Amino acid sequence: MKILAIESSCDETAAAIVEDGKKVLSNVVASQAEFHAKFGGVVPEVASRMHAECISQVVKAALTEADCSLSDIEAIAVTYAPGLIGALLVGVSFAKGLAFSAGKPLVPVHHIAGHIAAVYLSSDLTPPFLAVVVSGGHTSLVDVRDYTDFRVLGRTTDDAAGEAFDKAARVMGFPYPGGVYVDKAAKIGNPTSFRLPKPQTTGLNFSFSGLKTAVVNTVHTASQRGETINTNDLAASFQKTVCEILTEKTLQAVSELSYDKIAVCGGVSANSGIRDAMTKICEENGLKLFLPPLCYCGDNAAMIGAQGFHEYKSGTFADDYLNAFATREL
Ligand code: KG4
Ligand code: ZN
Repeated sequence: MKILAIESSCDETAAAIVEDGKKVLSNVVASQAEFHAKFGGVVPEVASRMHAECISQVVKAALTEADCSLSDIEAIAVTYAPGLIGALLVGVSFAKGLAFSAGKPLVPVHHIAGHIAAVYLSSDLTPPFLAVVVSGGHTSLVDVRDYTDFRVLGRTTDDAAGEAFDKAARVMGFPYPGGVYVDKAAKIGNPTSFRLPKPQTTGLNFSFSGLKTAVVNTVHTASQRGETINTNDLAASFQKTVCEILTEKTLQAVSELSYDKIAVCGGVSANSGIRDAMTKICEENGLKLFLPPLCYCGDNAAMIGAQGFHEYKSGTFADDYLNAFATREL
């Protein structure tokens, strides 16, 4: 069963054809990142316009690469929430029009559920398990009871992990999106050079704004004093602190659930320090770790096709009134 999936929640216009929720026949991603880089972050109106410009070509390319026509497609899955509202509306409107004209069922997919489903594409992972979702807009611990049954155990109370990476990167002089540059710098830096604060949050919630501000203040104070900072050391210290925050809460959550499987997903799960730190705690605690390959960490439509398959099987279909939502619970 082939699903055509569409994702446009932020600055990637993406379309994919996924068979039976598992086999990726095509996965086309048109990233706008370089256009937003000069502004130091995503400009929502520019993102919406760029999605509108290229969505037809991206969907056509996904069909062509998969050697499919619309008649081979069983259903159309689309990200309807959460994200930038104008950006989401482009994908949702396009998918609605296509589903209507081709007479195909339309399956709405939550973006976070999509990030979690990315892990199914490359592993034999099955629910239940604990998902650690770390992206540019979200940081959540999710009890995945079944493919379409989620319970959010904790989330960030301020910035997402990726936001903290990108802001820290910016003050260190790296281009947007800076997470990957911090990752590279951290590899050659000394992680014990800077003492950075770890937030005290209740339960399984996260907080990254204090850590982000500490990095910003460290750089500004040094520049006011005319001192130079070793960026690699600061990046390594920052990344080590993020890893500690994530691994501590992950262990707390998994012990509360008594699960033995953890999936780490979302754009920030591409971070090598986080992958290593999660691998270490899982080895030490007899837990099985599932990580998506790098191509499925960031926003893509293959993950929407994977989750779309499970939503389809559980009978979740959109009616003619499907709308997009900037915020929406999983
Ligand atoms: O999942 P994603 O593509 O978009 C959202 O749903 O938000 O995540 C994008 C985020 C950005 O903040 C980006 O800097 C971060 O993922 N990121 C990384 C790395 N690669 C991407 N952060 C840290 N280390 C990386 N290697
Ligand atoms: Zn995402």
